[in-house]
Amino acid sequence: MLTIALPTGRMLDRCCLILKDLGLPSEKLEQRGRSLVIEEEGTRYLLAKPMDLPAYVHYGAADMAFAGSDVIRERGGSLVEIADTGEGRCRLVVAGPAELAERFMGHESGLMGLRIATKYPGITNAYFGSRGIQPEIVTLHGSIEIAPLLGLSDCILDIVQTGSTLKANRLSVLEDVASVSLRIVASRKSIQTKWDQLNRILFRLRHMKGGYSHGHALPTENR
Ligand code: PRP
Repeated sequence: MLTIALPTGRMLDRCCLILKDLGLPSEKLEQRGRSLVIEEEGTRYLLAKPMDLPAYVHYGAADMAFAGSDVIRERGGSLVEIADTGEGRCRLVVAGPAELAERFMGHESGLMGLRIATKYPGITNAYFGSRGIQPEIVTLHGSIEIAPLLGLSDCILDIVQTGSTLKANRLSVLEDVASVSLRIVASRKSIQTKWDQLNRILFRLRHMKGGYSHGHALPTENR
């Protein structure tokens, strides 16, 4: 039995389509109701919060997961990235009120003491820390864009896809941090013990019409 962890929320329907394209069962998954564990035709699906997906693979509860590269970078763990689906493309950015742009264009010392709201404290620390800047981080779990409006932070580090949430909250992109897409990660143990099943999935990914791009089996041990 191959256990695959999938993200709840906006990417789940997309994942169902990818699974279908890969020839994996998805009928029960599409009619899941409130079930969080779905078994069909030799595959078990676990539905989990996007940020928790690396933990399911790291601790061996799932053989593989469909997870955003943002989440993989933030949570790390002993995972191997086996493919980039190229789906769910967006960007991780630093955004804030337009008045802050000048501070970002000046010397880096001007960014000391910056208070940043984010769902990604690990990425924020690493991104600014590599430049010798130690920001004050306010960790939130959603609605990040309201933090500068309320004076809770100077700026945010968050995902931008269409840009409409930034616009609606009068924020602009100040710096581009990284591009993000939906990746497939697997545990080292499953790569050894279930390679045939995983390889069949990778083979189909590579041969899909207009297909998904194949990853480089990069280890993602961030911590
Ligand atoms: C994400 C992200 C932004 C928004 C960006 O939030 O954190 O808030 O999407 O999308 P846009 O550029 O297309 O407007 P999500 O919808 O996942 O909700 P959350 O605020 O609860 O994290």
